[in-house]
Amino acid sequence: MNDARLNDDANERGSAQNHGASVGLTADKITIRGGIPLVGRIEVKGAKNLVTKAMVAALLGETPSVLKDVPNISDVRIVRGLLEVHGVKVTEGAEPGDLILDPVDVESAHFAAIDAHAGSSRIPILFCGPLLHRLGEAFIPDLGGCRIGDRPIDFHLEVLRKFGAVVEKQPNGIRMSAPNGLKGAKLELPYPSVGATEQVLLTAVRADGLTELKGAAIEPEIMDLINILQKMGAIITVDTDRVIRIEGVERLLGYNHRALFDRNEAASWAAAALATDGDIFVGGARQPEMITFLNVFRKVGGAFDICDDGIRFYHPGGDLKPVIIETDVHPGFMTDWQQPLVIALTKAHGTSIVHETVYEQRFGFVDALVEMGATIQIHKECLGGHPCRFGQRNFNHSAVITGPTQLHGADIVVPDLRGGFSHLIAALSAEGTSTVSNVGIISRGYENFIGKLRLLGADFDLEG
Ligand code: EPU
Repeated sequence: MNDARLNDDANERGSAQNHGASVGLTADKITIRGGIPLVGRIEVKGAKNLVTKAMVAALLGETPSVLKDVPNISDVRIVRGLLEVHGVKVTEGAEPGDLILDPVDVESAHFAAIDAHAGSSRIPILFCGPLLHRLGEAFIPDLGGCRIGDRPIDFHLEVLRKFGAVVEKQPNGIRMSAPNGLKGAKLELPYPSVGATEQVLLTAVRADGLTELKGAAIEPEIMDLINILQKMGAIITVDTDRVIRIEGVERLLGYNHRALFDRNEAASWAAAALATDGDIFVGGARQPEMITFLNVFRKVGGAFDICDDGIRFYHPGGDLKPVIIETDVHPGFMTDWQQPLVIALTKAHGTSIVHETVYEQRFGFVDALVEMGATIQIHKECLGGHPCRFGQRNFNHSAVITGPTQLHGADIVVPDLRGGFSHLIAALSAEGTSTVSNVGIISRGYENFIGKLRLLGADFDLEG
């Protein structure tokens, strides 16, 4: 393997990180010689889907915040850039993965600067509430993110309007202002959206009066954001039945917080262990946030040992078994877990069904698997047993996977973040050589995945 192209190895050895510089992957193509079980220990840091929001929360404080276990991924780099153009000083702390965020000199940023830094991320939408409180105005460029469906922002705009924000669509994005300040509101989401719930939390904590949110998402990453906001001085009550109440306060201070581990990354490495007949210890993974995943992993035929410092995931031998999975909001089976696990299902003896109910278009990664020899059919019907909001709407959102099949090497192109990791697993478990292109996307959410693959014994070369 060509180590010269890896400049993020340092993270594995625990040296200081540079979140503002490259996340380390200069190559965009990997040639993988498959069929080798992945074996060894890797570490996961803070969750991408918490850390980026925690960084935005720092804008609300009157004093600096310290966030620990921040992974060196490109989504973090994008949020750092956006904070910096708004005058937040971001520096590395004493320990690897510590970020210090000083929002004392927050200022308005030029549209062009925000647009240039936003890249392909959807996080800029979450800057609105904090910036409206701090500056009275905010601008969101046209948003990116993975191409896994329409991914509209209507829930976000609707709740912001109810807080009193004035929303103006402009040719290159959306401008918001709050001429009369933001006031607490009675809100109800039509679907428990993670982002819209975070939008409400980040806006309501400093709004005038009480906010009640019905139909909230309650993912562990949201609970950890609530932990952070409470440390800052917020008053937030999580009731039963997805109701969150927030009493607005006059001022918030900075926080000191160690981010919740990345359960999506942990599940991805678990799926890689199973599909390659391997044995991976994921340092930093914890059971409580992964209970639903662990149940399915066991039903498919995987084994795990829960330890104080992580979870060991392995293939214990014997045939893998088919399962029926319906993705759902927490505490259901996460949509982000299905793509990596599908590779193991191509090896299971029998027919598995994956019914995707969170995103209408999350099976784009399957074409490449079929090219590699998998038997997978995609259907418009709701096949899991429960009708979902995508039924009768012409969305290809159910997959039928018939196994066992032995995947063979192919030239494949990564379509999105989780689909990309599943392509890596497919190539690692296939017979022969595969070339996986566009792997840069994977750096959005998997810290040093190249270094980790090397640690686990994968056989590959990197190319331009
Ligand atoms: N939705 C709307 N209108 C909105 C917002 C959402 O219709 O204004 C719909 C979406 O189109 C989707 C559903 O609601 O069909 C759920 O979307 P949600 O808002 O919950 O997702 P998100 O906040 O955009 C986060 C994660 C995703 C993860 C989902 C679900 C981040 C940065 N992203 O997205 O993570 O899949 O929650 O748990 O936190 C990933 O990590 O690869 C990833 C895509």
